[in-house]
Amino acid sequence: MAAYHAVLVHFPIALWMTATLAILWRVASDGALAKAIDRALVPLLTIGLLSGIAAFAVGLMVWPWETISSTPLGRNHVLLASWTVAYWALLLATRWIQGEAVWEGVMRWVMAGLAILGSALLGITGTLGGHLVGIYTEVSAALRLAGWEVYTTFYVPMYTLAAIGVVTVALIGLGLWGRNERNAV
Ligand code: HEM
Repeated sequence: MAAYHAVLVHFPIALWMTATLAILWRVASDGALAKAIDRALVPLLTIGLLSGIAAFAVGLMVWPWETISSTPLGRNHVLLASWTVAYWALLLATRWIQGEAVWEGVMRWVMAGLAILGSALLGITGTLGGHLVGIYTEVSAALRLAGWEVYTTFYVPMYTLAAIGVVTVALIGLGLWGRNERNAV
């Protein structure tokens, strides 16, 4: 199953990275091209989610659970993969349910923040997967600077917790600001 997992993970990685670029483009522009790209966003996020679920399901079959869960590296890969899939499912639901309202006022900056955060989760999931097969990237050096040693850390370190806290408060603040702005119109 390892070969199937290695092939399948390319789909969500490529589709969610493309979705990130599409969201950032739409955030930066109200032009015709940006609006055309936005019309493809829900299908793009839907295919991304379906392929992410497929990669996740096959990932569960690569190694026995006792093996993948016996090291911090393996457990963190599974944990981050779960966050990534759940996170992009929520982003799809947000764009689908809210429609084009997500690009109004301050809400577009919330979308930018969500897309960047989703890419970061995806990048860390892929980085940890790479370490499982002996392929290393500079992302793990950045994680180490944040107090996360990929081979030994199995908790969310203080600096990472602080960063998550700051981003959460900022996104909630942006959401409240956007709601007030909409109510004021
Ligand atoms: C969307 C979710 C996931 C993504 C994006 C992802 C990504 C990756 C990547 C990029 C690799 C390196 C592949 C290679 O270069 O050969 C990898 C390897 C691996 N992943 Fe995942 N993964 C995901 C979910 C999971 C899950 C849920 C599990 C297990 C419960 C898992 C278990 C593994 C294992 C065991 C390897 C090493 C495979 C080998 O020995 O060749 N992955 N993953």
